[in-house]
Amino acid sequence: MELLTDAQALTRWSRARRASGGGIGFVPTMGALHAGHIALIHAARQQCAHVVASIFVNPTQFGPNEDFSRYPRTLEADQAMLTAAGCDALYLPEVREIYPEGFQTRIQLPEISAGLCGAVRPGHFDGVALVVTILLNRVQPDVAFFGLKDYQQFLLIERLVTDLAMPLRVVGVPTVRESDGLAMSSRNRYLNPEERQRAGALYRALLAARDLRRAGEGSPELLEGVAREVLHAAGIERVEYVAVRAARTLLKVATVTDDEDPVMLLAVRLGSARLIDNMVLSREDGA
Ligand code: PAJ
Repeated sequence: MELLTDAQALTRWSRARRASGGGIGFVPTMGALHAGHIALIHAARQQCAHVVASIFVNPTQFGPNEDFSRYPRTLEADQAMLTAAGCDALYLPEVREIYPEGFQTRIQLPEISAGLCGAVRPGHFDGVALVVTILLNRVQPDVAFFGLKDYQQFLLIERLVTDLAMPLRVVGVPTVRESDGLAMSSRNRYLNPEERQRAGALYRALLAARDLRRAGEGSPELLEGVAREVLHAAGIERVEYVAVRAARTLLKVATVTDDEDPVMLLAVRLGSARLIDNMVLSREDGA
């Protein structure tokens, strides 16, 4: 795997690959990689001749009291995982390369950023939109891969790429889970063993809501209620949100109908970690 430590090396790599044909697949990350990230590399490997990942812990998407400074940095292990997964190149920019002196541009998607994680983390999605735009402009991929685990982020990036007419395709990759259903996350490292054990309740809460939906329940409040009960029973008290929304728009729905699948999204605090998860509450199997 080639290490690209500055923009010039990245541009050279990208130009040469484009000239050789076959398409460039791009997987942006903040590192501390796990099997969820690697699923994105595998998806890119399947669809593109050339695969490049980036690792950049983006300061503009962290709030002043969030975990930017303690975010896990595990570069050696990350490189080994990417190499084993068949990633061709890794872009590792410095902060001053992404945000040079004099930088002042802002990007906002006010509607999609308004609720859920956007409400709890003001400015977070502005920072995501900004860094993703810069990274996409630098890499110029044909396809970019994002996890559905960060569902609101995924919809935001789809909207961003459409609105700014960026010439690429955005692909969403299903959430990779631990054996008890906990969605893999770099932040799971913050959990102690007892918290880690309780964290399985997030997935069970989503399954309980899905079961109720499959039994025909259409009330968002009742679907949310059953999920909250599961979290409560596991002693997870600091619930930031449990919400049922329209899966394409994240708008509130008065009643769930068969016309559009609802998605349940949840965010909790457990120990010093903030955990999120979601599930499309489809009435059929395979969702
Ligand atoms: P990060 O949290 O490192 O995640 C990088 C990518 O991996 C995102 O697209 C995320 O949705 C995906 N991902 C994380 N856990 C996953 C899982 N369990 N299953 C499937 N995919 C998973 O998300 C970010 O970084 C940043 O916001 C970024 C987009 C890189 C911008 O800074």
